[in-house]
Amino acid sequence: MVSLTTCVFLVLLGFGRLVHSYYTEEYRPQFHFTPEQNWMNDPNGLVYYNGQYHLFYQYNPNGTTWGFMSWGHAVSTDLVHWKHLPIALECESDSNGNVLQMFFSGSAVVDVNNTSGFAVPVGKSRYGKVIYSTPMVAIYTSNYPTAHTQSNGVVIRAGQQSQSIAFSNDNGLTWTQYEGNPVIESPPAQYADQYQQFRDPFVFWYAPSSKWIMVASLAMEHILLIYSSDDLKNWTLQSQFGPENARFGQWECPSLFPLYVDGNKNTVKWVILMGINPGGVITGSGTQYILGSFNGTTFVPDPSDVYDPSQIPAGSTVFQDFESISSSFEELGWSATGDFSGLGPQNASTVQVWDIMGYLGTGVMTTYLFGDIAKGTITSPTFTITKQYISFLIAGGYYPYNPATAGTPDDNQVSFSLVIGGQVVHSQTGTDTEDLVWRNWNVAGWMGQEAYFIVTDVNTGPFAHLHVDEIIFSDSPKDEGNWFDFGPDYYAAATYNGLDINHRTVIGWMNNWAYAQNIPTSPWRSAMAVPRTLALKTIHNKVRLVQQPVSSLSSLYTSKLYSKQIQSLRAGETAINVPAPYNARMKLTVQFTRGSGTQFGVILRANTTDTQETVIGYDFLGQNVFVDRFKSGDNSFVDWQPNPYPGHFIATLPTKSTDCITLNIFLDWSSVEVFDGQGQAVITSQIFPLDDSAQVKLFSVGGTTNLVTVSVNGIKSSWT
Ligand code: FRU
Repeated sequence: MVSLTTCVFLVLLGFGRLVHSYYTEEYRPQFHFTPEQNWMNDPNGLVYYNGQYHLFYQYNPNGTTWGFMSWGHAVSTDLVHWKHLPIALECESDSNGNVLQMFFSGSAVVDVNNTSGFAVPVGKSRYGKVIYSTPMVAIYTSNYPTAHTQSNGVVIRAGQQSQSIAFSNDNGLTWTQYEGNPVIESPPAQYADQYQQFRDPFVFWYAPSSKWIMVASLAMEHILLIYSSDDLKNWTLQSQFGPENARFGQWECPSLFPLYVDGNKNTVKWVILMGINPGGVITGSGTQYILGSFNGTTFVPDPSDVYDPSQIPAGSTVFQDFESISSSFEELGWSATGDFSGLGPQNASTVQVWDIMGYLGTGVMTTYLFGDIAKGTITSPTFTITKQYISFLIAGGYYPYNPATAGTPDDNQVSFSLVIGGQVVHSQTGTDTEDLVWRNWNVAGWMGQEAYFIVTDVNTGPFAHLHVDEIIFSDSPKDEGNWFDFGPDYYAAATYNGLDINHRTVIGWMNNWAYAQNIPTSPWRSAMAVPRTLALKTIHNKVRLVQQPVSSLSSLYTSKLYSKQIQSLRAGETAINVPAPYNARMKLTVQFTRGSGTQFGVILRANTTDTQETVIGYDFLGQNVFVDRFKSGDNSFVDWQPNPYPGHFIATLPTKSTDCITLNIFLDWSSVEVFDGQGQAVITSQIFPLDDSAQVKLFSVGGTTNLVTVSVNGIKSSWT
């Protein structure tokens, strides 16, 4: 028999060991949610009830890559500290090991009026009245890999995706699937062939009509279906929305919710937030939003939020549309060298450019002539910068311009660049698709200066070609849509049910399908971004969805570890001293004003030899916030040959030269999240630096940066 003292001693020992090593593995996020082990993707079933925030999530109980999708579960009272709970809905297989049902993404609601009839008696009041439970109902996609007939007689086709429900009468701890599942078996008749691409129901209570509303996605069609229901079991299709705005790849994980504009209770707008993959702002996964109105059945987008791909912004001028396919570049005033000399724009259908946006016309400038082997340059006539933006369509392989190798034997660029004063000031390569996409360069910083474009293709490798079309000059960017986060690692965002309109809170998966299954972490894979509070703010006459980390995150902040004001920061790098361990997890705020320099920022996770660093800053000329993770550490997950995933991310943030700009930076062991002061330019990026890359520096490029203030709080672990 073990004595009581021994027992207490063992428990203490065990507990001590646990506290000591729990959540301290290499790269383990310290203030972001991760499962203890195994694979995680989308947040699911976000619902606040009885003082608890529930976080369900796409989970593979059997490994660190996607598969056997189940709903993992955790709860929190503050969105900062999480308690892991048992799996809520676990992937089902038959006796031969064939997977019958995976639980794909969805939402959860608390059915306070028991519209579903799932409540059960839980006791009696003092006066003998029966007291009922309050059911929590999960609405999710049943993904059925194997054809079979269910015990309720429903015949399931292989690969079918249907919407189903399950309920819990113990606050989400244990779940029962509804015997009448699925509640929406197939998409509407006209989309019958999309039965394998119909998913991700987001459900909420719409009080004005006392109905449940569901938004679900026809992923490949770029269509959202809106249904309503009285009881969560019987659903009636009300309307559909889309395709609209960014529409490459698939539309996934939609949600729909109201917010006040500028905090004004009399102006409500409805927000559609959705994932798009691939075809995000960089390439791979991305998140876009659309503002509009919702009347209980139909979502109508605001005209100002619909970006008609066939229109160029009002007041813009076309510099070159490459429609004259019978002319040579020389005849158009351009010049060409190498394999392109003597040639001109080509017929787009011959070179197989895709134009799903419908703007291309016939001609395109291309370096795809004799396959990928063509090499040379194509240069525009000189022009004067007179408008703030240059926009153009681009497609082709990803071989970025690299100033370190340009012109050397290691040069492998296939790029379209803007040259001013002999310098490449903006450059864009392809996005690894033949679909033309709009890209914008902010050129406010070079107003009145002489410039020219150059296409440089020195590469003969696979996909080593570029197509460029419709070069326009305008006062506003040619957007494909509204991007919610401009980094590579923010996807499948979902928002909480059960909170009031002023506390709309979103959680995004901090990863990207382009490489998610290869990030170098173990025994878990993937984290959630910090929960963020949403609002609508009018900025430069346009209403925008803005975001800030939830205020409760501050409960993890240490006292100020560093704070300094610098009247004029000199050009170059200036080290600042943030003590360990907080040089690897901190909240760092910088405020600054333009001086004689062109860029200002912070270098984090740097080593002494400058071979590792994560660079975060603001570019006064291009007017954007940027994060550069090219040298952040272990990049094996994106270092594909010959085309690595991009490493430089920008978020447009137009400013005036006298503006004081604020950046709030949240650094964890394997991520960085950057917010401008208003929360409109946000970049989320994973990084995997070595432990001893922990220096912190400020930098100013090409001259001074003025009125710089820096302040740093450490962020304590939420797991110990
Ligand atoms: C988005 C997604 C969803 C789907 C889930 C499957 O990341 O593809 O559309 O429900 O993941 O795990």
